[in-house]
Amino acid sequence: MEICIKEVHGREVLDSRGFPTVECDVILYDGTIGRGIVPSGASTGSFEAHELRDKDPARFQGKGVLRAVGMLNCTINELLSGINVLEQRKIDCILTDADGTINKQNLGANAVLAASIACAHAAANALGIELFQYLGGFTQPDIPIPMMNILNGGAHASSNIDIQEFMIVPIGSNAFATSMRWCSEVYHALQSILKNHGLSTTVGDEGGFAPDLPHNETAIELILDAIRLAGFNTEHDFKLSMDAAASEWVNAGTYILPKQGTKYSTDGLIDYWKNLSDQYPIFSIEDPLGEEDWEGWKNLTGQIGSDTILVGDDLYVTNAARLHKGISEGCGNAILIKPNQIGTLTETIDAVLLARANGFRSIMSHRSGETEDTTIADLAVALNTGLIKSGAPARGERTCKYNRLLRIEETLGQYR
Ligand code: PGA
Ligand code: ZN
Repeated sequence: MEICIKEVHGREVLDSRGFPTVECDVILYDGTIGRGIVPSGASTGSFEAHELRDKDPARFQGKGVLRAVGMLNCTINELLSGINVLEQRKIDCILTDADGTINKQNLGANAVLAASIACAHAAANALGIELFQYLGGFTQPDIPIPMMNILNGGAHASSNIDIQEFMIVPIGSNAFATSMRWCSEVYHALQSILKNHGLSTTVGDEGGFAPDLPHNETAIELILDAIRLAGFNTEHDFKLSMDAAASEWVNAGTYILPKQGTKYSTDGLIDYWKNLSDQYPIFSIEDPLGEEDWEGWKNLTGQIGSDTILVGDDLYVTNAARLHKGISEGCGNAILIKPNQIGTLTETIDAVLLARANGFRSIMSHRSGETEDTTIADLAVALNTGLIKSGAPARGERTCKYNRLLRIEETLGQYR
């Protein structure tokens, strides 16, 4: 069966931080349209694929994406016109080959991913099936457990907390709709606790609260209080996850927390995480160490990796080659999956498959700068990642992914 691409059309739209990002429409000869919008990070890893920005100070503080849009409307349009949209791997290969660099420096990963996602949507639409079914088949995949970020710090908030994300994970819930309700109830319990303490309830980039607090541990204690206040148990119902985003802390061979000013050696930071995971019900820690501290990652994994999920985000940047190195050296036991870190759906899927083949977990993830695009929800189901993080149970660019999963759960539930 052939359903060919007639036109690729890009445009500049806004993300949740009010900065421009790339949207792409793929139009097929039968009139079907597929659309993809790419997100954008703030605490980006150095090894991520290249995000093409105009650097024209006269527009959007240099953050315009008209060059990437131009790539879609000219080069990528020419490359993909006439290609069968059902051949996603071939499409991604054409884009990667035409770019010719290891990090999509020429076409821009934002242009390439927008096209890659839009093609998948167009294909699913043309076939009249859901995106998760197109990407994953009918193997009755599971809905992931959400890791909801309810307290923001680091580069995502102007508060004094250095750990970027504090997440609640409803490990005791047996349905996505239940997970949503539980997380929302804890989120609002945390809001009332913060209010009662006279603390700020304004939110950070991912929708979690962003109060000034004396220590990281205070954030953990407040969240545990919120879980209990909402009527849940902090062992069986919920566990906690954190994203340290510690690449942001690297400073001349040591770690210095930018806000609190605390200094750690690699070994000191490993001890810190070890103590924290002894003390609290911790499910996972993401980027506990820097993106080039392979030796530290290996030591930490040896010490707490059997009980704690250690997630490489900046370390692995959804890149199968870096994951390969980490697997052979025993660095962490999970990879965060962000399609725009690598630039095509095919490479994203290959990273998940490599992780699975080697006993690593995959966590599907949004970015701090998001849009109404819900592709990651479908990807999480299609690839059966089991876990997804899409921020707080609040703000449309976060809840659209969770709401999409509610609908998918309803669809799948009809056939169970
Ligand atoms: P980013 O944050 O999108 O700003 O990189 C998300 C994360 O670090 O997981
Ligand atoms: Zn991260």
